[in-house]
Amino acid sequence: MKAIEIEGLSFQYRNQEAGYALEDVSLNVEEGEFLGIVGETGAGKTTLLSAMSGVIPHHTNGEKEGVVHVKGKPVEEYASLYEMAVDVSLVLDSPENQLFNLHVFDEIIWGPENLGLDREEILDRGNRALELFGLEGFEDRITYNLSGGEKQKVAIASIYALNPDIVLLDEPTSQLDPIGTEMVFEAIDKLIEEGVTIVMVEHKIEEMAKYADRIAVLQDGSLRRVDETCSFFLEGDAHGIAPPQVTELGQRLREAGVDDVAVPLTLNESIDEYTRLLQRRGIK
Ligand SMILES: Nc1ncnc2c1ncn2[C@@H]1O[C@H](COP(=O)(O)OP(=O)(O)OP(=O)(O)O)[C@@H](O)[C@H]1O
Ligand SMILES: [Mg+2]
Repeated sequence: MKAIEIEGLSFQYRNQEAGYALEDVSLNVEEGEFLGIVGETGAGKTTLLSAMSGVIPHHTNGEKEGVVHVKGKPVEEYASLYEMAVDVSLVLDSPENQLFNLHVFDEIIWGPENLGLDREEILDRGNRALELFGLEGFEDRITYNLSGGEKQKVAIASIYALNPDIVLLDEPTSQLDPIGTEMVFEAIDKLIEEGVTIVMVEHKIEEMAKYADRIAVLQDGSLRRVDETCSFFLEGDAHGIAPPQVTELGQRLREAGVDDVAVPLTLNESIDEYTRLLQRRGIK
């Protein structure tokens, strides 16, 4: 079974002036994969995540065509957004808009509490989330006093406590400084280790190259291309999405005649590759 299956999805917001936010998008997300979504402002990235999370049609109105299946079930068949969140949960770009409780631990167990689980199970999930995301000692901290990165980490921990199979992230670091950004990617690392299926919209292409198994490009509401991350940057049309700088350096070196360099995608790959290159030339 696919984690998410989208067939012929078009969407127009009720108050949208002209055209469609999404037009005839078909796309599958495999279980356990990390799919990155890129595209210009207004391309339809947030709308696509809204359709995957059930915000469309459960919360946002408009004209929808096509079908979105989450874990084999059409999103319309879920009773509510809350019921959907157990299968698929969305992390927004703004850390402020997704914390509702005064204290960190209450925030983390808020979801499980609302699922009506046993007290023991609720506390167990809360403690596991604290531990996994390195939030021990934060239990009684006031959520609105946390840094942006910490808030976002708490938001991810709260979602993790719901135990969803799929987590969607909409530019989760766009409002954060570099330290906050690093915290969020550490939290995403944990989700990956836990085998969670991830779909992330992100402008930081270095991070995309590092994490994504595949990359999808949206342009004017249409899906232009979806491909394995490596092929996406190294072959074919990247639709104006610049590759990571280390990749560009590799490509430029090849163009300049250094044809024994394997073009890297990430910083770590490039360190290994350039170390080998120097060693082959007798420079240690
Ligand atoms: N609530 C709304 N009501 C009306 N039109 C909307 C609404 N939200 C988005 N749109 C329109 O739908 C289109 C797609 O918007 P969307 O927010 O999905 O793009 P995006 O790729 O997420 O952009 P960004 O990079 O700025 O976040 C745009 O033309 C936008 O103006
Ligand atoms: Mg958006």
